[in-house]
Amino acid sequence: MSGIVSRLLPNVPPVFSAARPSDAAPIAALHAASFQRGWDEDEVRRLLADSAVTAHRAMIRRRIIGFVISRIAADEAEILSVAIAPARRGHGLSWPMLEFHLRSLAGRGTHAVFLEVDERNTPARRLYSRGGFYEVGRRHSYYGGNATALVLRRDLV
Ligand SMILES: CC(C)(COP(=O)(O)OP(=O)(O)OC[C@H]1O[C@@H](n2cnc3c(N)ncnc32)[C@H](O)[C@@H]1OP(=O)(O)O)[C@@H](O)C(=O)NCCC(=O)NCCS
Repeated sequence: MSGIVSRLLPNVPPVFSAARPSDAAPIAALHAASFQRGWDEDEVRRLLADSAVTAHRAMIRRRIIGFVISRIAADEAEILSVAIAPARRGHGLSWPMLEFHLRSLAGRGTHAVFLEVDERNTPARRLYSRGGFYEVGRRHSYYGGNATALVLRRDLV
């Protein structure tokens, strides 16, 4: 759908649901549009087929406009990736998607969630701060240079 047509249609809220291996192509495309080192479609398909991985998608009019993927080990999880489609960013969609995901992790018995974020990534840091994540460590010289990765944790009850 062209940008003009989509602007003329009323705003439709995203619908959140579990991502499936058949979503590998659009999720890989969205990952590639969001990160310097994109995941290829096979990598994504393998992840989505892994029973230790929990993934959710946000859809608007049957298009995937966001995803979040975590790997679970015992009662802890690591968020591997979160993204909203570039054209949909800045409209507050990331928190409801992440909240949906965190509820699902809690429902699977997860007590603590970890992730890494580039300290320069302001939208992501604000998202995680809103989501109750707090800093538990720092890794220097990350992301191929001087950047620092923050290690964040969120406790789930
Ligand atoms: C991180 C990401 C998912 C956030 O989604 P988004 O649609 O851009 O952000 P939202 O509109 O949901 O807003 C989230 C927060 O960031 C803030 N924000 C959004 N865009 C911003 C910008 N350009 N500059 C500063 N803050 C911004 C919002 O105000 C909000 O904070 P608040 O709740 O304190 O008001 C999205 O930017 C993205 O996909 N980025 C590329 C992939 C990525 O970096 N993923 C995270 C890896 S750890």
